[in-house]
Amino acid sequence: MPFQQVDDNVWLFERSIRFGPIPLPHTMTIVRLPNGGLFVHSPTNLDSTTAADLEALGTVDSIVWPSWWHDMYLREYAAAFPRAKLYGSPLLAKAQRSLVSLRVLDADAPQWAPCIDSLYVDRMRLFLDEFVFLHRPSRSLIVADLAFHVDEGRSPFTRSSFRFIGAYPGCNVPWVLKPGTKDRKYMRAKIDRILDWDFDRLIVGHADVVQTGGKDALRNAYRWLKS
Ligand SMILES: [Fe+2]
Repeated sequence: MPFQQVDDNVWLFERSIRFGPIPLPHTMTIVRLPNGGLFVHSPTNLDSTTAADLEALGTVDSIVWPSWWHDMYLREYAAAFPRAKLYGSPLLAKAQRSLVSLRVLDADAPQWAPCIDSLYVDRMRLFLDEFVFLHRPSRSLIVADLAFHVDEGRSPFTRSSFRFIGAYPGCNVPWVLKPGTKDRKYMRAKIDRILDWDFDRLIVGHADVVQTGGKDALRNAYRWLKS
């Protein structure tokens, strides 16, 4: 089982993608819901081993592409898990209209309550949007690109690559993404709403989980975004 279990019903799985010239760790999060179904967030490349490992954990119930930038492997997962419900962010769903089974994420939708809360971070950066999720039982915040975090144990090349984009050391928003935040007051309010949630673990889409102290890490990552 290559999945990394970080809580009773939460697993992570990493594969590498590319962000321009930089190899970028891409993390998929799997949450097992109280009914035994799986909530799969930001899927990584699907191969037969990964599909079998998912099925070993439970029935794939919901697959979530949380942001327009995380639209990878949609059709592979739709084909491999025909009974799963597929969800995409509003911008992603608009761009993928031909995939008729793709549902638009809705923060008011009760399908995962009371286990998972969600918040739509629109007007995030340029044309980027993102749904973020709070898994209440494990006090885990699950994000895609809202913040990046690279551990010191990563390779020198990975660390220097992340340092180059302003995402190392610690938990950060890459400098390349900051100028795109046009409405800073609106974004600050969104971040403050997230910080009001009860979480300690921060799971990022790239690269390493913040196992404890995740709220302070996120607060610090957005210190540049003054009220
Ligand atoms: Fe991303």
